[in-house]
Amino acid sequence: EKAGYEHFMLKEIHEQPTSIQNTFAGKLSELEGTVTLDELYLERDEIKRLKRVTIIACGTSWNAGILGKYLFEKLAGLHTDVETASEFRYSNPVLCGEELTIAITQSGETADTLAAVRSSSSYGCRSIAITNVVGSTITRESDSVLYTRSGPEIGVAATKTFTAQLVALYMLAIHLGRIRGVVSANEAKDLIVGMKRLPGQIQKILNKKEMIKECAAQFADKRDCFFIGRYLNYPVALEGALKLKEISYIHAEGYAAGELKHGPLALITDETPVVAIATRGHTYEKILSNIKEVKARNATVIAVADDDDTEIDKYVDIVLRVPSSHELLAPVLSSVVLQLLSYYTALAKDCSIDKPRNLAKSVTVE
Ligand code: F6R
Repeated sequence: EKAGYEHFMLKEIHEQPTSIQNTFAGKLSELEGTVTLDELYLERDEIKRLKRVTIIACGTSWNAGILGKYLFEKLAGLHTDVETASEFRYSNPVLCGEELTIAITQSGETADTLAAVRSSSSYGCRSIAITNVVGSTITRESDSVLYTRSGPEIGVAATKTFTAQLVALYMLAIHLGRIRGVVSANEAKDLIVGMKRLPGQIQKILNKKEMIKECAAQFADKRDCFFIGRYLNYPVALEGALKLKEISYIHAEGYAAGELKHGPLALITDETPVVAIATRGHTYEKILSNIKEVKARNATVIAVADDDDTEIDKYVDIVLRVPSSHELLAPVLSSVVLQLLSYYTALAKDCSIDKPRNLAKSVTVE
């Protein structure tokens, strides 16, 4: 059932061209610049009246939520908070009923996420679940469901469900943003064209995975590692670090690169590799200066960068390339690179990749 792959995780990483395609199939209109999400049963007026979005999730799904925040704010003009489900439940949220709650949960069974959604519903908030499992508990607890269509994920470390969650968030942000008159038809068309190119671009990354495997050798004997990114690449850094620590047991931290000098820079030495997500965008120059900061402390820097970016080579030790894409969509491609990097690092360390110690695929206890 691993279809010739050594691990489910590797198989699932390779399924991403298809899982992404399936998630947006039949929903994107390139001609009109619209995304059709009839399953939400959200009236246009309701969408126009929305004041705020609260995203509730745990782990990898929470990392996807951070990207969602940036997308809803940019494309739909909606203030968005991203809450850790286990914190939200025991805090005193100030909700008035004109917010939309979005629960992101691959399994649809995470106990804290379910409880947090119940609590937000008690304030009269409308809820949408983004989940991969048809008929899971969250689908009964939410007003509507947007499915990621990744197929079952067996590896404990989330991979194809994460990138499909990102795709669901792009679609939702474009949908809300078009109705609210924030994102223009032309901008939406560019994004839709870009989304349709993602499966082919991921395939290109998968075809060149040997290079990532060679790079992973740099990590195998390290104790600590940092992942840095800014803006949309910040959640990519968080997810890259989570994946590495989960399956390779290397201590890894994901940081908003601008935060480095507020503490973690003290830990950077020639023994702490730094992975910088440096695809092009309006924070590109900023991440270059963060890269210089860590290079000055002798860190080995591995950059994830656009395939036609030759400037980056001057500043870093290793460049892992992704096909150039729309700035907002690059996180999907960079995430695939980081999944492979974690996978090959864990492989070099002979770790139990599909079933990491102490972890369960779905966390149905608090
Ligand atoms: C990471 C991972 C976990 C889950 C988290 C939430 O690879 O798998 O961090 O993302 O337990 O799970 P769901 O999305 O099922 O609510």
